[in-house]
Amino acid sequence: MTTYFNQKQFEDELRLRFEKTQLDIKDRVFEAAAYSLFSGGKRLRPNLLQMAYQLFTDADINLCRPFQFAIEMIHSYSLIHDDLPAMDNDNLRRGKPSCHIAFGEATAILAGDLLLNSAYEIMAETCLANIDKRYLSAMIVIAAASGGRGMILGQSRDLAFEEKNSVTAAEIEDMQMLKTSALIRAALLAGGILGGCNSKEQDLIYQFGSKLGLSFQIRDDLLDAIANAEDLGKSTGKDERDNKKTYVTVLGIDRAIQRLAELSKEAKAILLKLEKLSGIDTSELRMLTDQLETRQM
Ligand code: IPE
Ligand code: IPE
Ligand code: MG
Ligand code: MG
Ligand code: MG
Repeated sequence: MTTYFNQKQFEDELRLRFEKTQLDIKDRVFEAAAYSLFSGGKRLRPNLLQMAYQLFTDADINLCRPFQFAIEMIHSYSLIHDDLPAMDNDNLRRGKPSCHIAFGEATAILAGDLLLNSAYEIMAETCLANIDKRYLSAMIVIAAASGGRGMILGQSRDLAFEEKNSVTAAEIEDMQMLKTSALIRAALLAGGILGGCNSKEQDLIYQFGSKLGLSFQIRDDLLDAIANAEDLGKSTGKDERDNKKTYVTVLGIDRAIQRLAELSKEAKAILLKLEKLSGIDTSELRMLTDQLETRQM
C-alpha cells in the first residue's frame, strides 16, 4: 500500500536525525545549519525520492528515509552557499534572512559544509548496515549528481555566464540540467534503485527526471520575473539584476512558458511509457508534474 509523503512526519524525523549528528554539542554552526534546514522548504527532493521508491516496492519507507534526509541536507547546503555574496548575493530565503545574513558569512559557509558532510555520514552508515548493493548505488547516484560533474559544475557555469554577453538556449539548458536537474533526477533515480527498479526502468526514470528538473528551474526563473518577493519568500528580479542567463532573461517570458509546457508534456509521456513497460501506476507523479508547472512558490 502506498504511504503518501507525510511532510510533518518527515520534518520531525529529519529533526531527530539532525540532532543525532549534533550529539550534545552547542555551537553556532549547528544553529545556522538547523536555521536553514528547518526554514520551510518544500521538501520536493525527498518527496520525489519516496514517490519513485514506491513505484517499485511496497516495502517500509524507513528503508529509503536516510537518503531522503541526505538529499534534503545537500539541497539545503547548496542554497546556503548559493545565497552567499560571492555567489548570488541574496538576502532573503524562504521568507527569512538568508543564512549568512542571520549568522555571518563564515558561519554560513561552515553550516553548508556541515550539512554536506552529515548527508554522506548518514548515507554511509546506512550502506554499512545493509549489505544489499542498492544502498551503495543510491549513494553513488546522489554523490555524482551533487558533485563536479553535476550540481557544482552547473553552479560554476551559472556564475561564468554572468560575464558573457550572449548565451544560446542550448547552453542555458545544459547549465540548468546540471545545476538543478541533476539533483532532482538523482532523487528519483535513488528512489527507484532503492525500490528495486531494473535498468530499463532506470533509463525512463532518468529521462523523466531530466525533463522535470529542467522544467522546475524554468519555473523558478519565471517566478523570479513575475512573482513578488513576499509571496515567493525570496527576492525577485535578481536574475535580470545580476546578468544571469536564464530562459526568461535571454529568450523572454513567453518562450519560457512555452518550453516549460513542452517539457512537462514530454515528462508525462515518459511516465506513460514506464506504465506500459512495468504496469505500474504513475498518476501521482504525473499530477505532481502538472502542479509544478504552475507552482507559485
Ligand atoms: C530552489 O529550490 C532552488 C532551485 C533549484 C530552483 P526549491 O524551490 O526546491 O527550494 P525550497 O527548498 O522549496 O525552498
Ligand atoms: C538554483 O538556482 C540554485 C542551486 C542549484 C543551488 P537559483 O540561484 O536560481 O536558485 P534560487 O532562485 O536562488 O533559489
Ligand atoms: Mg544561483
Ligand atoms: Mg540563487
Ligand atoms: Mg532562481
